[in-house]
Order: sequence, then structure tokens, then C-alpha cells
Amino acid sequence: WNMANIRNFCIIAHVDHGKSTLADRLLEATMTIDARNMREQVLDTLELERERGITIKLVPVQMKYRADDGQEYILNLIDTPGHVDFTYEVSRSLAACEGALLVVDAAQGVEAQTVANAYMAVDQGLEIIPVINKIDLPSARPEEVKKEIEDIVGIDASDACLVSAKEGKGIKEVLNAIIEKIPSPKGDPKAPLRALIFDSIYNNYRGVICSIRVVDGVINKGQNVTFMATGRNYQVEELGVFKPDMSPVEQLGPGAVGYIIANIKSVSEARVGDTITSAERPAEKPLPGYQNVKPVVYCGFYPMERDDYPNLRDALEKLQLNDSAIVFEPETSAALGFGFRCGFLGLLHMDIAKERLSREFGIDLVATLPNVVYQVTKKDGTLVVTHKPSDFPEIGDIEEIREPYIKVTVFVPNEFVGKVMQLCQDKRGNYISMDYITPERVRLVYELPLAEFIIDFHDKIKSLTRGFASIDYEHVGYKASDLVKVDILIGGEVVDAFSFICHKDEAYHRGHAAVKKLKDIIPRQLFEVPIQAAIGKRVIVRMNIKPLRKDVLAKCYGGDVTRKRKLLEKQKEGKKKMKQIGKVSIPQEAFLAFLKTE
Ligand code: GTP
Repeated sequence: WNMANIRNFCIIAHVDHGKSTLADRLLEATMTIDARNMREQVLDTLELERERGITIKLVPVQMKYRADDGQEYILNLIDTPGHVDFTYEVSRSLAACEGALLVVDAAQGVEAQTVANAYMAVDQGLEIIPVINKIDLPSARPEEVKKEIEDIVGIDASDACLVSAKEGKGIKEVLNAIIEKIPSPKGDPKAPLRALIFDSIYNNYRGVICSIRVVDGVINKGQNVTFMATGRNYQVEELGVFKPDMSPVEQLGPGAVGYIIANIKSVSEARVGDTITSAERPAEKPLPGYQNVKPVVYCGFYPMERDDYPNLRDALEKLQLNDSAIVFEPETSAALGFGFRCGFLGLLHMDIAKERLSREFGIDLVATLPNVVYQVTKKDGTLVVTHKPSDFPEIGDIEEIREPYIKVTVFVPNEFVGKVMQLCQDKRGNYISMDYITPERVRLVYELPLAEFIIDFHDKIKSLTRGFASIDYEHVGYKASDLVKVDILIGGEVVDAFSFICHKDEAYHRGHAAVKKLKDIIPRQLFEVPIQAAIGKRVIVRMNIKPLRKDVLAKCYGGDVTRKRKLLEKQKEGKKKMKQIGKVSIPQEAFLAFLKTE
């Protein structure tokens, strides 16, 4: 087992700086596979992933490269998910490497996620190789970008690789830098086995496939292993490496990157970050860093068609086989019927789940407004953790409400600084710092409530800055806030699906907007219908929908009885699609319209 000739690395970059293109070129240059085939052969890669241009899951690929010193090296490229929703997965992928290529666009320079990802890699003790990409662009300014990397990221960039991934320039220099600069793995082949699970995917034919990095000891086909976080034992059915198609091997030693298949039923049994050890000769301590990830954003999923409820449950169960971070439990709503309250790592994670349910499982669903998880301390000292507004205690029982905060870093051209600061203020942000990273670009740091961020922060900032801002954020824990639950009442009845939590000062404004909107979409009834927003028992907004006699017979002069009957029948049919809130009938579409555009 020759560790000296192994290099484990990943590529980190801001979105669109060319990570995938560079990876393709490396695979071609090492003749691992040509770029076209790679797209098709990579395991079960989600269609959605490619469409959105984001990586959710990707297998590690093994390349072989004969360097100028005449030796053959094994290069394992480990992909990292590029989105903050998956920060923990990123940190585990990084933990499986000794080095990272930091790709920076030669025209755009250092962006928010360049810095966030680079810092994470530095924290993990990785050797970082700066790669300045897109030098073919007329607007490329590699010398300035080198300086930005040194000033902002704080690493030496004097001998950064200058690359055009698109034109295939500078690829050999990158390969040489990987071999020269990234340390080979260290590990003790005689020690008890310890292997890190840095990813696990569910495959319909093979069950769960875990991507692993062996740190100490060796793992053999057929051996019994223990997953240390769950304490479960399995027999290794298959062991192998991705080339990038799965090729079985008999044994993997320290420093190796590969996969195992061991009759594991769901990815929740093979959590990212867990340590695999030998069942016969277990390691004393697991590898550092295992963490049970908890959802931070919740929303209700309801099938459009009531008959789809069992299908939705099946689909959620299947989704969970492949994504252990998703949680769900049954929930009923007076307005929407039977559905599920689902928890996600972030908004993107939620959107992806929603889209997969509709594409892969053909389920049309309604999602209620997303909300974050609040911690409510009651006057009697008990703590309530709320996943939905209806979990909130009575207003009189509440001592304190705490909400999750994030630290947001925005990189923005200086002409937009004023607008971005205004937006952050409007979102209840606390100013932390501002500095010039170049004479034209500013780094702004704010602390914001996550709840404000998830509403529309991304869209707003992109439109205010014409797409020139880049954003990154991290969770910074819970803080007390002056929050209230606002209920919406139709005809005097609370409609659970419409309740929301917001800051006290915004309750009127947001309550007013909600009431106004409902007033516009709920059809008139035979009697007057009040629409109200209330905090506890106190009504803060009220509007009335004027009564209307909906006389379908008005147009039938005289005595055509059959025609009259037909019209009455039709009216009855229409009523079936109505939801009954107290004595008010509301068309299903009105609910959907309300939830959709909020
Ligand atoms: P995400 O997967 O969204 O994080 O993006 P990425 O970092 O993988 O970027 P990707 O490789 O998809 O490249 C983004 C865009 O930049 C694509 O349109 C590429 O064609 C283009 N691009 C990548 N490398 C180069 C380059 O060297 N020169 C030029 N001109 N364009 C490039």
C-alpha cells in the first residue's frame, strides 16, 4: 500500500467560476474519461442538479496520472456541494482531502463564497492551490485577482496557476501543482480501521452506497464493520473505487477514497460524518466532527388532490431514503386538509424537495409559507420549540421568544452599498462591518434574522444590485426578539394555514397586506364576511367583503324549467370544490392563490 503516491483533493469556488469545467478538463487530461461520457456515467446524477447548475450529490472520482518524475499517481477528486444549505456536507467532504484547488474567475475576482469556502478549507488544515480561471476572457485581470486572493483570503497567490478551463490551457500546471504541493495522506495501516463517510446516496438497484475515506487501518471485502454513530453492524458486500464507474476492489488502505455497499436500507443509517470501524477490532474513538444535522426551515406540503395523500407519504419516504436531512410528520389543516409538516436545511433544500416530488413522483402539491424554528420560553419556565405557528403557546403564557440569526456577508460594487445597507436595515439587520476589498468593491457584514432572509432577501439583493452582489451566510445561533404570532380570521374563524410569525413592529403592515389580499381573492358571499388579522384576541386589521346575492337564475326570464335546473346543478357542482371555513365557502383556488404569491 503506497500512500506516497495518493493525492486527495477537492475544488472549491464561487458559483460559475468554472469548477465543473475544470473538473472535466482534469478528467480528460488524465484520460479518465472524456467529458461527454462523464455526464452520463456518473451515478444516478439528478437531472435537477444539472438544470439548476448546482451540485447536490456527486461521486468522488479516481484519476491516474503519470507525472514528469515518471511515477504514477492516484488523484482522488472529491466534489463538494456548493451551497450553504449543505455546509456540513461541505465540511465533511473537505475532511476527506489534504488539499483544495481554489478556483477564482480572472474577470470577477474574489466573491463571497470564494472566501467562505476557502476559510472552511483553511480551518480543516488543507493545502490550498489558487487557480485563476478564464484567463482567455478579454476582461481577465489575473495580476489584480492574485492580489485580491492574497489580501482577502490571506494565502500566497504569487505562483497561482493561470488557467482557461474552457480552452484547456494550464491544465498540466494544475496537475503538477496537485502532485507537488498537496501532501500525501498520512495514516497507520496497522491501527484499527477508521473510515469517514463523507457522502451516501441511495440507489434503486444497489441500496445505499457510501463514499468513504479510509484514515487508519484497512477495510476488506466481506469483513464486519460497525458504524460508530449508530452502533449498527454490517458486512461489507462490495468495496470499490469510482473510475468514475464503480469498480470493485478487495481492499482499501489508509488514504484511499472509495465506496462501500453493505446492505444498508436508507441513508439515515449511513450519515455523513459517521466513522466506520472494524467490528472485531474497533477503534477507541471515532473521527472528529460527527454532527446530527437538524432542519432549520419548515413548511407544510399538501396534495392538491385529496386522493394523493398516500402517494405523497410514499414519495416523502422514498425521498428520505436518499436524503436523511429531510424530516416530515403528518399534519392537518382546516383549510388544506391532510398533509405533512416537513423540515429542511434551507430554502434551496426545500425547493429541490418540492420539485423532485412533482417531477419524479408526479405529485402536485401546495406548500405553505416556510417558517424557521423558534424557541419559546413560557412563563412557567418550560421551553417550546416550534416548527409551525400553531405550535406557539398562548400569547399570555409567553416569557421570551428567540429566533435563529445568521451572519450575512455581501460583496458588492461600491455604487450599490447604500441600497444594500438599506435592505439589511429593513430586514432587521445589525450592522457588523464594512471594508473596501478593492477601490471599487466593498464587503458588508450584517447579522440578520434567518426568518427575514428566507422571505425574499436573495431576490431583492439581486435586483437592487443588478446581479452584481454575491452573498454568503452562516448560522450564528438564537437571539431574543420581539415577535408575535398573527392569525388571520375569515368570518370569525382562524385559518391555521395563514398564521405567521413576525416582528411586533411589522404585524400591522403584514397583517394588512394579508387581509387585503384575501379580500380581493375571496368571492362575495350571500352575507357580509369580515376578514381580520389578530394577535391573540386583539384584532389589528379588519376588512369586510360586501354581501352579494349570487342569483344564477336572474338571467333566465320566464319559464324554461330545465335550463333553470341545469344552472342550479352547476352551482351545486361548484360548491363541492369549496372549502368551508365556518359558514363561509371559499374556492380552493383562493387558498392556493394566497399561499403562492405571498
Ligand atoms: P456551479 O456548478 O454552478 O458552481 O458552477 P461552476 O463553478 O462549476 O462553473 P461551470 O464550470 O459550470 O462554469 C460556469 C460558466 O463559465 C460556464 O458557462 C463555462 O462555460 C464558463 N467557463 C468555465 N471556464 C471558463 C474559462 O476558462 N473561460 C471562459 N471564457 N469561460 C469559462
